[in-house]
Amino acid sequence: MTDTQKAIALLRQRGLNELAPLGVVLGSGLGSLADEVEDAVSIAYEDLPGFPVPTVSGHAGRLVVGRLEGRRVVLFQGRGHYYERGDCRAMAVAIETFKAFGGRTLFLTNAAGGLNTDWRPPALVAIADHINFAGANPLIGVNSDDRFVPMTHAYDSHLRTLLRHAALDQGIELHEGVYMWFSGPSFETPAEIRAAKILGADLVGMSTVPEVILARLNGLRCVAVSLVTNFGAGLAGGDPTHAETKEVAAEGSANFKRLLRAFIRAYDPAHA
Ligand code: HPA
Repeated sequence: MTDTQKAIALLRQRGLNELAPLGVVLGSGLGSLADEVEDAVSIAYEDLPGFPVPTVSGHAGRLVVGRLEGRRVVLFQGRGHYYERGDCRAMAVAIETFKAFGGRTLFLTNAAGGLNTDWRPPALVAIADHINFAGANPLIGVNSDDRFVPMTHAYDSHLRTLLRHAALDQGIELHEGVYMWFSGPSFETPAEIRAAKILGADLVGMSTVPEVILARLNGLRCVAVSLVTNFGAGLAGGDPTHAETKEVAAEGSANFKRLLRAFIRAYDPAHA
């Protein structure tokens, strides 16, 4: 049995016949949404074969299945990052399990550095596209033609429109931009931030991109939002620290949750 098959067997043992059409990966500042889930079934990643046990403060490791806004959802409370173990496939089994057990759409959230000084932290930005700048790809070693995953429409435009409407409905300002993946865990240098700007990035961060690539391999639709916790290093006084990202992420979390809940109400699995 593969880890994914074992994980599904365990989920069945815990009384689940499926996960949910919509899955949300909770990044920094959003983790507490997991405590708001109704009729929640919660499973520690440790108990799920192949799921990543997080090592980062501010990231729990739990799968929470239940209801938000009356809709069935599954929350990934915490993620595995490339920088934790040098494994950019950290979320591979989690994402494959989601797809194989009822998942259709993956909503990814993260904290990021902002390169547009008009977007004041804690701004919210829908990711329209990405630049993989980490020199890694989670599909290296997938030895079938499946690995040649098209990335032209990686961030689903229909779901992004839905998200924009949800933001409008809530009176929440939502920007749109390109996310550049750095491996981390060190923050960027000012020269790297200048280079990122020149290359067309609006955001920099250490997650999400490998998950989107894995999600696309599995045929899931993706929608992603960054919470800007700081300006990129050297930009308008930007000098990010982990403590600052956690603090500002917490400040932005109420708006972020409101946006997410409005999206969940509007999301229709039949059209996604
Ligand atoms: N760089 C990379 N990742 C981040 C940042 C940043 O400035 N802020 C929050 N996550």
